[in-house]
Amino acid sequence: MYCARHHADRIISCRMDPSSGTLSCRGARLANQSPIAEYVLEHLARADQNDYVGLCIAENKLMSDLVLARLATAAPAPESVLGYDAMVGAAGFREQLSRFMERTFLGRQFPSEQIAVLNGAGSVLEDMFYALADPGDAVLVPTPSYAGFWADLETRDELRIVPVDCASADGFRLTPDRLSAALAASEHRVRVLLFTNPDNPLGKVATSAELEAVLQWAAGHDLHVVFDEIYALSVFGDTPFTSVASVRDSLGDRVHIVWAFSKDFGASGLRCGVLISENQQLLDAVNGLAYWSVVSGHTQWLLGQMIADDAFVEYYCMELRSRLGVRYREVTAALAAAGITYLEAGAAIFLLCDLREFLEEPTWEAEASLWRRLLEDTNVNITPGAACRIAEPGFFRLCYAAGPREAVLAGVVRLGEALSR
Ligand SMILES: Cc1ncc(COP(=O)(O)O)c(C=O)c1O
Repeated sequence: MYCARHHADRIISCRMDPSSGTLSCRGARLANQSPIAEYVLEHLARADQNDYVGLCIAENKLMSDLVLARLATAAPAPESVLGYDAMVGAAGFREQLSRFMERTFLGRQFPSEQIAVLNGAGSVLEDMFYALADPGDAVLVPTPSYAGFWADLETRDELRIVPVDCASADGFRLTPDRLSAALAASEHRVRVLLFTNPDNPLGKVATSAELEAVLQWAAGHDLHVVFDEIYALSVFGDTPFTSVASVRDSLGDRVHIVWAFSKDFGASGLRCGVLISENQQLLDAVNGLAYWSVVSGHTQWLLGQMIADDAFVEYYCMELRSRLGVRYREVTAALAAAGITYLEAGAAIFLLCDLREFLEEPTWEAEASLWRRLLEDTNVNITPGAACRIAEPGFFRLCYAAGPREAVLAGVVRLGEALSR
């Protein structure tokens, strides 16, 4: 009844809208409103300019040498990679993943049947949420947040994200009270909580106690919880990473984990994301959608060789922590020298800068115009906080692993100079 009414409203409003042209309602909706944010469009337009420094996209460029070298030594691919295979990933690759993830971040082994592989974390999220919630249902997302969740869940799944706004005054802490307030305020049936750990854009790692609080709160409200652990290996600070898999003997039917090669291996272009779940019905439903999001057999082969190489994985993880830590310390020293306030981070590949004092007034318009002025004056692109759905204007995400050392440090100096003018 609920879903039918939602659909009916949409169809009627589309029939009355002449802008749908020759397309379907949904086709016209997509064509009429590009989901690509302005800072991303500017990034794409400027990417070839010599002095452009793009610090707005969450990419890890620090590890490419190691990843490319290891992929280059992979054994020749067997003929099977040319053909159809299981749509949620070849059995052999999922077995390699099962072992690799146990050793590196999950802390325990999941059978390969509880693992599904799709082309990127975005596809995993889209397919999984298709099966967890119906059009018009709501998903709780704590903010600040990864900008892409809105496109992932709202575009084809037609879900509504209800932000759980956290405040800068206490370091954007997620509390059960904030979760309860968002749940109570939602005008739509809430089905899932989507929790990112380590966090994007804060670069913070949740403690076991924080994970426990989230799990208990969600269980008390009969909600699914999806733990996005895409930055699990990119941890260099004092708080070690704890996967939700290691705080519970069993995930049960309502707790699910997402990971991908995109961030920890700086391989977002290879498009390989992973779902871990004990919910057989969910796995079956995702299997039914997987044909449209398959990871190339050749890519699975290459990645499988890499993660099955224990010595490489051990060295890689150590090097990842070390290189990220060095870059973080260099960039935060440069930020301090440039008079730019930032929030301390211990994981992932970005941090939040607090530029509230440079806003002409505490509004979203002032934040957008500061972003534009910095971009025009310095040719350095950072992510405006509005894109990360931060509830207060004036915070900007800076991706410090997104380019070569000299360029990133020069970008910070240029930002500091422009802010002091
Ligand atoms: C928290 C989070 N989840 C998911 C994604 C999407 O990753 P992928 O490129 O594997 O689709 C990102 C990318 O920035 C992210 O930061």
